[in-house]
Amino acid sequence: MKALCGLDLPVHADLLVGLETSDDAGVYRLRDDLAIIQTVDFFTPVVDDPYSFGQIAAANAMSDIYAMGGRPLTAMNIICFPVKTMDISVLQETLRGGLDKIKEAGALLVGGHSVEDSEFKYGLSVTGIIHPDKVLTNRGAKPGDLLVITKPIGTGIINTAIKGNMADDKLIREVTRMMSTLNSGPVEEFDNFRISACTDVTGFGLLGHACEMIDGQDMALRIYPGKVPIISEALKLARMGIVPGGTFRNREFRKEYLIGADKIDNVLMDILFDPQTSGGLIIAVKRDEAKGLVSRLIEKGLAASSIIGEFIEGPAGKIILK
Ligand code: CO
Ligand code: CO
Ligand code: CO
Repeated sequence: MKALCGLDLPVHADLLVGLETSDDAGVYRLRDDLAIIQTVDFFTPVVDDPYSFGQIAAANAMSDIYAMGGRPLTAMNIICFPVKTMDISVLQETLRGGLDKIKEAGALLVGGHSVEDSEFKYGLSVTGIIHPDKVLTNRGAKPGDLLVITKPIGTGIINTAIKGNMADDKLIREVTRMMSTLNSGPVEEFDNFRISACTDVTGFGLLGHACEMIDGQDMALRIYPGKVPIISEALKLARMGIVPGGTFRNREFRKEYLIGADKIDNVLMDILFDPQTSGGLIIAVKRDEAKGLVSRLIEKGLAASSIIGEFIEGPAGKIILK
């Protein structure tokens, strides 16, 4: 984050993951066998139904715990609410949705804070736990590893369509289900496979977060654009020009990292950079175990799970689209 530039960031022997590597969450070792993971996220409603919004916001906030390989333990509500102009029942339903998701994750709601604001916002700060040796940063992949994604992309486009009243109820239900699906399922499998890195796909889009996995490293990442699972309606809507503003910023920010982007359909490029809300995990796994991992994920109901790329010896820190 730019605003942190020039600040004297903390260094400590027990701070296992800090701010430097734009990872999903901070990790601090309490004991040789125990570390805490901390993260916070909140945003304005992405769907009209407050209960669904609460579920999505909570799944999204807890996702950064899962992206480190951990499990959430406690959560606190963060609420900005226009109490003079919005009915309090909207907030109650949102908090009920969030609490149900926290319970589903096996975590506990332990507190929170609310302020009056002109625009409604909701999210959580979440604390999780993990064994220090099992922390999965976004940087651990090695050449030869394959990259697996666990949810389809395109939710940013559909959320934009929802705001413009261009999404029907069926599509809203489908995308709500995807965004409120916890990323706990893949993490339950992590002990059974040799996983080398993990992060979740959120605001910077698939390629933005994929870039974080090779940034500053002496290897490249080949992404197969044709293998990336995409919500089919998102493709249609993007062809009609329904693309969120964040997409352009995401593309600009990472354009120097890409090789072969000029040969990819422009609409597909938009989707590969589509900012996701509560997106899936991208997981680096040893080559011979990738198919087995994908099969397990599909068995668990994550039907779109796919192998979408491979880490290779190649131009340092570049993403090759082919
Ligand atoms: Co994240
Ligand atoms: Co986050
Ligand atoms: Co991570």
